[in-house]
Formats: sequence, C-alpha cells, structure tokens
Amino acid sequence: MNPLQDKKDLTILAIESSCDETACAILKDGELLSSVISSQVPIHRRFGGVVPEIASRNHVMAVGSVVREALEKSGLNLYDIDAIAVTYGAGLLGALLVGLSYAKGLAYALNKPLLGVSHIRGHVSANHLEHKELVYPYVTLIVSGGHTALAIKENNTALDIVGSTGDDAVGEAFDKVARVLGLPYPGGPEIEKLAREGKSNIAMPKVKTPGKYDFSYSGLKTFVINYVHNKEQKGEEYSKADLAASFQDSALTPLVEKAIALCEERGIKQIAVAGGVGANGRLREIMNNKCQKAGIKAFFPSKVFCTDNAAMIAMEAYMQLRAGCELSDLTLDAKATVKLLKRQ
Ligand code: KG4
Ligand code: ZN
Repeated sequence: MNPLQDKKDLTILAIESSCDETACAILKDGELLSSVISSQVPIHRRFGGVVPEIASRNHVMAVGSVVREALEKSGLNLYDIDAIAVTYGAGLLGALLVGLSYAKGLAYALNKPLLGVSHIRGHVSANHLEHKELVYPYVTLIVSGGHTALAIKENNTALDIVGSTGDDAVGEAFDKVARVLGLPYPGGPEIEKLAREGKSNIAMPKVKTPGKYDFSYSGLKTFVINYVHNKEQKGEEYSKADLAASFQDSALTPLVEKAIALCEERGIKQIAVAGGVGANGRLREIMNNKCQKAGIKAFFPSKVFCTDNAAMIAMEAYMQLRAGCELSDLTLDAKATVKLLKRQ
C-alpha cells in the first residue's frame, strides 16, 4: 500500500538514463503530457557501440535540460509532481547512476516520493501509453538489446516469464551481425534498411532450444559471421543485402511463432511487443500477418516508445502505484542486471 494508490490526477515525472538516451517524461493520470529524449547515438557511432564512460558524462550534461524541457512542454512545474520515478536497472551502472542521483535529488529537495523502476518492465508498459484497449492477461514478447523473453502479463504487477534466451538477446544478435557486415551502430535499424534491398534466400541453421518457448541467437549469429569470413577468405562475391534479409527473417520468425503458440496454448488473444527490436518493420509485418490468420491482435508501441524513453518508465510507475506497490527510498541503488521477477 502506498499513499498515492488512490490519488486523483496522479502526476509522475520519470527519468531514464540506462544506456545512451537521456530522457524525461511527465504522465498525469495515465495520460502522457510530455516526453523528451536526448540521444547520444551520433556520439557513440564513431566507436561502433556505446562507450560507458562517455555515456555517463553525456548524461550528466543532458539530464538537467531534458527535465526542464519535459516540464515546460507539460505546462506543469515541479510542485505539480506527485512522485519521481527513475530507472534503477538494468543498464550501464555509471549511466544509471546519473539519472538515479538526479531523481533522488529532486525527491529529497521537493519532499516527494521516489519509485525505482525496472527498465525491462518499462518496455512492456510502453504498450499502455497508447493502447487503452489492451486488457489482462496478455502475452508479451520482450525483444530488446539485453533481453529476449516471452511472458504473460497477468495484471499491473504480475509478469509470468514462460521462456527466454540462454545466450544472446535478439537485439544483440542484430548489432553483432551488423558489425560484421560493416554497418554503423546501432545495427538493428541498419540491418532492417539493408534487408529491404535483398531477398531472404540463404539457408540459415535451425536453432534448438531447451524449452519450447525459449530462444537462442548465438548459433545464428555465428553462422552469419562464419559465412562472411568464408566468403572474404575465398575472395567470393556475396550479397550483403540477401544475407541481412535471410538473417532478419530467421531471427524474427521464431519470435512470432512462439508468441502465437503461447497464446493458443493459454487461450489468450492479445500479444504486446516490447523493446527496441519492436521498432522493426519486418517484425511488425510477420507478426500482423500471422496474428491475423490466428485471430490474435498484435500491439506495438509507436517506434519512438519501442527504443529507450522515459514515458514507458512513467507508465510502469503509474501502474505500480495504482496497484499499491511499495515506494523506494533514498537508499535505492543502481543495478547492472535486474532479474525479471514474477511480481514487482
Ligand atoms: O530495447 P532496447 O532499448 O534495448 C535494451 O533495453 O536492452 O533496444 C535496443 C536494441 C538494439 O539492439 C537495437 O539494435 C535494436 O534494439 N533495434 C532494432 C531496431 N531498432 C532498434 N533491431 C531491429 N530492427 C530495428 N528497426
Ligand atoms: Zn531499452
């Protein structure tokens, strides 16, 4: 139980800084008033990936102005805020600490409650920003840079994890394959772009997983890396676009098929996709086609809410507060990894 459970017009300011986006959003009674994202992608691109120390420094420079801009756009001021929400993990420790310290400072100075939010639960809750017709229980397919999982969201807090990856996450595989193809960071959108010019005509290995709802991406990733090295060693021509299209389809199809199989097994008619790979147009196409045939409705957040943002953190905090979850306090610490717990 928390004092905000029944608060009228509950207004949340949320901060996200787990990787290379500094973000702030304001949510009032479940409606998004503002969402500001300052991306460091152009800074990290020349290193081919996120450099943690550089990410932390840039969060320090951006966090104050991002919070000010979000407040300005919402038309509110700090005294209108009922609670401060912040991503405490998973992510880069130094990066998380910047947003967390700023949020703690605000909570302390304003004497407002603080709530630490799991980044991955935030990705799932991004669906509730725009899809008010989404009802429990639904299947959620979590496809991010760090996680790949299938779960059933039973209510505001209970997330029943049914399967996950034992090795690479799907977004990680996209990023690594992009790198071997010489594409810039972040690799996912680059693979998608290149794949549009190619045909999915290269046979990829079929992946075995321990459980029927589990995933595995290291075999597929290694196959692509070896394919490229082989061709280069022999000086043989190959189509990078065909390879990207073939990899993409092999990576995405099991995600859709397993999500639909889980729906059918449990008699659930809705799938909500969560995380950065949810921005992929080909995933949306395969999912929508297969779901239509199966009589299932697929939900995707808008692309801007698939990748990192603070609106999803505000929405997850809103759902937790309405469910009566406990508040955090100023001892809240950043965590590089956060287990996907059944209940928050
Ligand atoms: O969900 P996210 O923020 O990662 C974690 O929270 O761990 O998303 C980042 C991941 C990266 O791996 C990125 O390459 C991938 O999402 N991604 C995509 C696309 N846009 C982002 N993957 C495939 N296609 C895209 N369009
Ligand atoms: Zn993320």
